[in-house]
Amino acid sequence: MRAIIQERYGAPNVLKVGEMKCPNPKDNEVLIELEYANVSSGDARLRALNESLLVKLMMKIIYGWNGLRKKIPGVSGAGIVKKIGANVTTFQEGDRVYSINGMKLGHYAEYVTIKETGAIAKIPDNISFKVAAPLSFGALTAYHFINKKNIMKNNNVLIYGASGSVGTYAVQLAKYYGAFVTAVSSAKNHQILKQIGADHTIDYNTIDFRTVDKQYDVIFDAVGFINKKSCSKVLTKKGLFLSVKSITSEKQTLLNEINEIVKTGNLKTVIDKEFSFDEIVQAHEYQDSKHKVGNIVLLIKTTGSEANHK
Ligand SMILES: NC(=O)c1ccc[n+]([C@@H]2O[C@H](COP(=O)([O-])OP(=O)(O)OC[C@H]3O[C@@H](n4cnc5c(N)ncnc54)[C@H](OP(=O)(O)O)[C@@H]3O)[C@@H](O)[C@H]2O)c1
Repeated sequence: MRAIIQERYGAPNVLKVGEMKCPNPKDNEVLIELEYANVSSGDARLRALNESLLVKLMMKIIYGWNGLRKKIPGVSGAGIVKKIGANVTTFQEGDRVYSINGMKLGHYAEYVTIKETGAIAKIPDNISFKVAAPLSFGALTAYHFINKKNIMKNNNVLIYGASGSVGTYAVQLAKYYGAFVTAVSSAKNHQILKQIGADHTIDYNTIDFRTVDKQYDVIFDAVGFINKKSCSKVLTKKGLFLSVKSITSEKQTLLNEINEIVKTGNLKTVIDKEFSFDEIVQAHEYQDSKHKVGNIVLLIKTTGSEANHK
């Protein structure tokens, strides 16, 4: 099968298009024929390994010392179940699914195997593969923080770094739970943020929201650039500070909960750019700019069923 191969860590050009053996699903796995992969900040981190010494060491131990042990990167994507293992009961051949596997990776390829009980879910009928591909990364992360446990109706919620993958889903989720949403990004992205539900926008280049006389019930840092201490004056007494730096989990139950919101039409995927398989280096260069709006997707299957789900 065609696959992107990452033998080393480094700049985007360490990613090469090549051939790998198609995986065979174990008894408890499904084989997915991918239509789209999501090109995420997570993929870029695992490629560049531009981390503190301790994190770098940990990542090398987990993923491989000189390059990816598993060779094929790609944390998340969407496609069709092509084959199921002998014990699989939840999914069947032909199901449209999306998935994430932050440990095993493998979504930058024509086929990937995922455990039946892993972070895989059926794609709701109202969305395409392209729109579904980033959900398991950005929406799943946003949902970990912005959910009915943390957000009350009429809460004042501020999303910092609102225009990225996690941020655009977080804005919509906060709105879905009835909050008044303030979105912080550069000015060029304010229009799109208002379109997806932000009530108020702040340009971080001209205003530091922490110096303005206004308080928030919840502040979510969707890019990991600010800390709780610096927000103490703008958080209400019982205010909640949430940061994407916290650890999240990849669970099928959470993807199914996200699906219920997607079905209402209140959680859309913002797509900035689509790249072809052969443009993987350009896709990563664009991710490395750190200023993408929403998500980047990689087209894997150029002929097929996507046309039926535009
Ligand atoms: N905890 C977890 O499990 C988990 C999971 C996923 C991601 N993450 C982390 O979450 C973070 C965000 O991920 P992502 O995929 O959403 O990133 P992303 O899509 O690459 O973020 C891009 C956005 O960052 C914004 N940005 C850049 N500089 C900024 C600044 N100084 N202040 C505010 N916004 C700024 C840009 O907005 P402008 O162009 O308007 O500047 C752009 O829209 C990453 O650090 C990632 O590692 C953590």
